[in-house]
Amino acid sequence: MYEWIKALHVIAVISWMAGMLYLPRLFVYHCEAEVGSKQSETFKVMERRLLKAIINPAMIVTWLAGLYLAWAGHWFAAPWLHGKLLLVLVLSGAHGFFSRWVKDFAADRNARSQKFYRIINEIPTILMIGIVILVVVKPF
Ligand code: HEM
Repeated sequence: MYEWIKALHVIAVISWMAGMLYLPRLFVYHCEAEVGSKQSETFKVMERRLLKAIINPAMIVTWLAGLYLAWAGHWFAAPWLHGKLLLVLVLSGAHGFFSRWVKDFAADRNARSQKFYRIINEIPTILMIGIVILVVVKPF
C-alpha cells in the first residue's frame, strides 16, 4: 500500500509542479496583452482552467498522500520532514497568491509588472529543488 500511495504522491507532485511552473509564465505573457483584447480573454481561460482543473486538485492529492506517507512511514519525528513541510507550506502559500492573481487578471485589475512575475516564476523552482533534495537525500 505504502509504495502505491507514494506513486500517487509523485504523480500528484508532478502535476502540481507543472502548473506552478507554468502559471507565472502565463502571467508574464498576459501582462503584454491589452485589456479587453482577444488574447487577454484567452489567457484568462487558460489561467482559470490550469488553476481549477490541475493545480488545485493536484495540491490536495499531494497533501493527502504526503500526510498518509508521513503517518504510515512513522516519519513525523524526522528532521528532514520538518524542513520539507516548511518548504511545502511556503509553496502552498505561493499557490494561494497565484490563485489571487488569477482572480485579479480575470477582473482586469492586475497592477503588477511583467518583471515581478518573471522573478516570482523562479520561486516554485527553487522550492521544488529543496523539497526533492530533503526527501530523497534526507540529509538530516
Ligand atoms: C504536501 C505535503 C507533503 C508531505 C507531508 C510529504 C511527505 C512525504 C513522505 C513522508 C514521503 C515518503 C518518503 C520515503 O518513503 O522515503 C514522500 C515522498 C516523496 N515526496 Fe513528498 N510530501 C509532501 C509534498 C511534496 C512535494 C510538494 C514534493 C515535490 C515538490 C514532494 C516530493 C516527493 C518525492 C519526489 C517523494 C519520493 C521520494 C523517494 O521515493 O525517495 N513531496 N513525501
